[in-house]
Amino acid sequence: MPAEPTVKIVSSAEAVGQSAAAIVAATIARKPDVAISIPTGSTPLGMFRDLIGRVNAGTLSFAKTHIFCLDEYVGVTPDDPNSLTGWLEGVFLKPARVPRANVHVLPSSAPDLASAAAGYERDIAGHGGLELAVLGLGGNGHIAYNEPGSAGDSRTRVIDLTPESIEQAKGYFEGRSVPTHAMTVGVGTLLEARQIVLIVHGHSKAEILRAALRDPETADVPASFLRRVGEKVLVIADQEAAALL
Ligand code: PGA
Repeated sequence: MPAEPTVKIVSSAEAVGQSAAAIVAATIARKPDVAISIPTGSTPLGMFRDLIGRVNAGTLSFAKTHIFCLDEYVGVTPDDPNSLTGWLEGVFLKPARVPRANVHVLPSSAPDLASAAAGYERDIAGHGGLELAVLGLGGNGHIAYNEPGSAGDSRTRVIDLTPESIEQAKGYFEGRSVPTHAMTVGVGTLLEARQIVLIVHGHSKAEILRAALRDPETADVPASFLRRVGEKVLVIADQEAAALL
């Protein structure tokens, strides 16, 4: 049996971000040219603020670090206002001065999506595999865009978005039709990272975090697969998200 993930409970959402940022910074200080994946969503905003502060203070540089994006809507390119990659560029990659050549974007508009996804896997492997995967937790238990039903050994691929995720995305697409598919790094791909940090905050995530960490492992809650490699997983949660653990 693998060890259970370590859970670090901190006082606030801001502290979740600071704690995760400290791990990212320490990882890069140890080995500047590593491959790291970072999530989209509201959860990592505090971490991004902290990391950008370090870059501006001159104590951290992403000059040699390779950033692998975790997910993108199919048919949506980074210049689209609703692109997850474009959003990440604006809130983090540009202000953190990550060189454009070091940003690895899901090929979700490629003519042959399956072979492009396999190419993304090769790209990760070619950079030595992920040294660190920072993940958010979806309200439905997804990690990256591995929706419920995703297999624990799944690889980078196109998935059907659940009605819940489509509903959530409607807020961003403002009347335009919401994509029904996304390309995501696989669960199995993420489990191979040498360190995994799951960041979670707020009451709304308390029940799904409890299910992911305490109920039997299930594809209905893809985050529960993290327990297969619990010894290298750190969950950083605020008191609200950790309330039911
Ligand atoms: P959120 O999304 O950070 O906006 O809550 C998390 C996720 O879906 O991974």
